[in-house]
Parts: sequence; structure tokens; C-alpha cells
Amino acid sequence: MISFILNNQTVVTNQPSGSTVLDFVRYHKRLSGTKIGCREGDCGACTILVGDREDGKLIYRSMTSCLMPLGNAQGKHIVTVEGINMADLSPVQQAMVDTNGTQCGFCTIGFVMSLTGFVMNETAKNYQQAIASIDGNICRCTGYKSIERAAEMLSEKMNEKPGETTMDWLISNNFIPAYFNDIANRLQQLKTTAENINDENGTLIIGGGTDLIVQKHSLVKRSATNHVFDTASLKGVRFENEKYIIGASTTVTDFAESILIQNNFPDLAKHIKLVSSTPIRNMATIAGNIVNASPIGDMTVFFLALNAEITLSNHATKRSVLLKDFYKGYKQLDKTKDEFIESISFSLPSAAVFNFEKVCKRTHLDIASVNSACMFQLNNDGTIEDVHLAAGGVAPFPKYLFNTVAFLKNKKISAATLKEGIKIMNEEIAPISDARGTADYKRLLLRQLFLAHFAGINKNVLKEILLQPAF
Ligand code: FES
Ligand code: FES
Repeated sequence: MISFILNNQTVVTNQPSGSTVLDFVRYHKRLSGTKIGCREGDCGACTILVGDREDGKLIYRSMTSCLMPLGNAQGKHIVTVEGINMADLSPVQQAMVDTNGTQCGFCTIGFVMSLTGFVMNETAKNYQQAIASIDGNICRCTGYKSIERAAEMLSEKMNEKPGETTMDWLISNNFIPAYFNDIANRLQQLKTTAENINDENGTLIIGGGTDLIVQKHSLVKRSATNHVFDTASLKGVRFENEKYIIGASTTVTDFAESILIQNNFPDLAKHIKLVSSTPIRNMATIAGNIVNASPIGDMTVFFLALNAEITLSNHATKRSVLLKDFYKGYKQLDKTKDEFIESISFSLPSAAVFNFEKVCKRTHLDIASVNSACMFQLNNDGTIEDVHLAAGGVAPFPKYLFNTVAFLKNKKISAATLKEGIKIMNEEIAPISDARGTADYKRLLLRQLFLAHFAGINKNVLKEILLQPAF
């Protein structure tokens, strides 16, 4: 039995744990405010808020209910638009009305839920944060300007709050109904009575569901599943024995919000902004991205360039494998059926320079045409002491560029080095022409991304390369 709080009602259900929250709220609870658009996490029409206790605090995050397995709702507060409706419109709903932020209305619920998620974030204060909160919502009618004005109105309203956002302030300002005040206690009680929702012989391991449910929705629904999204031993970021260790079920958001990680990746916010959208990052796990083996997986390319190692377990034994040796072919992994990823680890030399680049048609929620990440370290004389380089979209699996790396090691960064590096790189990639660009275009993109990795080191070298007529 799965039990959780849906709006103001505690529900207990024996629906399959691999079915989606979207189908549950619409077809079993007749809460049709949550809309179905794409069922792929792309449009945001199905956005809900999910409240859970993190470090003793009740935190609400936006998620796309079309990709959220019902099992992941266990012990949480699921909030649909019906759960924030009151006698009067909330300031979020009113802002959408006042700015003409809705036309056909199909996307509106999703925008309202995402913006409600913004105001519920205790650090919510500025326009940029409000806009970032709707990076997973698409509107086909308004042209966005009116919705942006609604976001602006709300960010101005956030200036009125004293200090951090609190539940009391949100309730007294009519953002959410009064029942929210008791949710933390109710969740606590629910946790103490919660049953194990995993099927005894569950072989289908599921984390956030953001890829698996898109690809194999019916299979997930009818399978005996093993939900690892909330498995405490698989979550979190820690530093041990000079290594950063990321639990397999750590979400992209958890990773990006980790102070440990932020302190070591100065451009992290810029990199993460390119990875999907807020609701998907709130659900997608790091190991899910790795094991999915998408040739274009953003986080996989990120970790390949960190020369990360993964720890695989089958409960009885454990072994480690370098991520760059994990991929054997298209969707072929160095992993037996009974093994699962337990953690991902990497070390970061103090002088390391790290960069991640991605080219796609739009900033958010898009699959890259090509992405690439690079980490390198220079000696005092400008020689490359160590380097790791990876690219997506140029091979049947996320590609660690072994030959280019071997060539670059112990070379000085110069126009000749980078030019030769590009030549070698071109020999070890095999992009194909598809909807995201021709093979030639992808080669061109990767060349530019490769140069971008070194752009901060020596601009003159880049200028020298780019000015060469034959280049
Ligand atoms: Fe489009 Fe869920 S229906 S994101
Ligand atoms: Fe029609 Fe946004 S108002 S899709």
C-alpha cells in the first residue's frame, strides 16, 4: 500500500507503484486541474508540488506528475492546483489574471504551480529566481511576456516578506490554504506507519523515472519495481578520503545545491542551467542518467570529464569501474543484471579547471546536439599536466575522448597543440546525421566546444587558430 497526503487528504492506495501520479490524481481522484500535455516532461502542464521533510524542514519542489512514479509519492505531500485553491484567488493566480498571463489556459495550471513553488522557496526574492522557476513550462498562446510580467509582480511581492519565506507568512498572505500548517506533523505520523512499498522480488530499479517512464511507461506500470529514489543510503554528497562521493539517488538539484560541490565548481549554476528544467532536475537522479547510457546525457558527460568512478553492488559484493570504461557500445554497459550503481565518486585537484558546454536549440528542456566537458590542470610553465575530455552526441554512447586526452597530456597550450588535438578528436568520433544536426555540423560544434574549454586560458591562441583561413 502506498500512503501519502494528497492536498488535504491522506490517501492509501494499492495502485501499481510504477503508475504515474498524474494518472492517479486525474483518473482515480478526479482531480482534473492537472493537465496532460506531452507525458514526456517537456511541457509542464502536469506540474505539481511535492513536499517532503529534508533535514527536519518541509521543502516543496515542483515535479512533472506525468513522469513521477506513484511509489515516489510515498510519505510525501502531493499538491495539485486543487490543493491551493481557496475562496479567493491566490496572489499567484491573481497575477496571471492581472497580466493576461492566460489565454487557452491549458498551460496555466503548470505555470501557477511552478510560480507557487517559487514563492514557497524560503529564499525566493528576485525576478531571476521567479523566471527560473518556470523554465519547465511551455505556453503556446501568450508569447510569454504576460507570464513574465506575472513573475515580476510576484518577485516584487517577495520584497514585502520579512526575512525568509515561512509557512505562516504564506498562509497569512493567502498564497496557500491554512491546512499547510499541519502538514509537517501529518507527514511525520505517516512516516511512522509507512509500509515498505517495494515489491518483494522487484527487479526493475527505478529512481526519478524521468527517462524510464518516457521510454517504457507500460513496462514500469506492470513490473515488480524497486523504488530507490528515497533510499537514504543512496542519497547525498559527501567528502571522504580526498574524494567526493555522490549517492546514486542524489538528484541533479541535490547535487547543484550541495555547498560542497558549489564551493569547488565556480560556474556550476551556469552549467546546471543547461541541464533540462527545474522540475526534471528535482526528480532526475545522477545514477539514472549514467545507467540510461544516452549518447547525449548531460550529467554523464559532466562526470566523464571528472574521470569519475562508479561503485556497483549486487548486495553481496561490490566493485568499482571507471565511468570511461563503463560504456561498451550503444546501451551496452559493463554491468550484470543484478548489479546497480551505489555511488559515483571523483577527486578534484585544487588547481583543476573544469568546463561544461552544450549546444541545443533552446536553453531549457532540450536535448543537446553536442555537449562536452573538460577538466585540466596546468603546470607553472603552462604545460597540461592532466586532462580529461568527454563529449556527447558524437558516438553511440557518451564518449570519453581517450586519444585526444593522450595527445594533450604534457603538451603546452598553443595554436598548434589545439589544432592537432582537434584533428585527433575528429578521428575518434563518429557522429551521425539526425534531427539534431548533420554529422558535419556536429563535428563543427564539437570543435568549437573543445576550443571553448581552453578559452579562459589563452585568448590569443584561440584567435590565432580561428584566424587561420584553412581552419
Ligand atoms: Fe507535459 Fe507532463 S504532460 S510535462
Ligand atoms: Fe494556451 Fe498557454 S495559454 S498554452
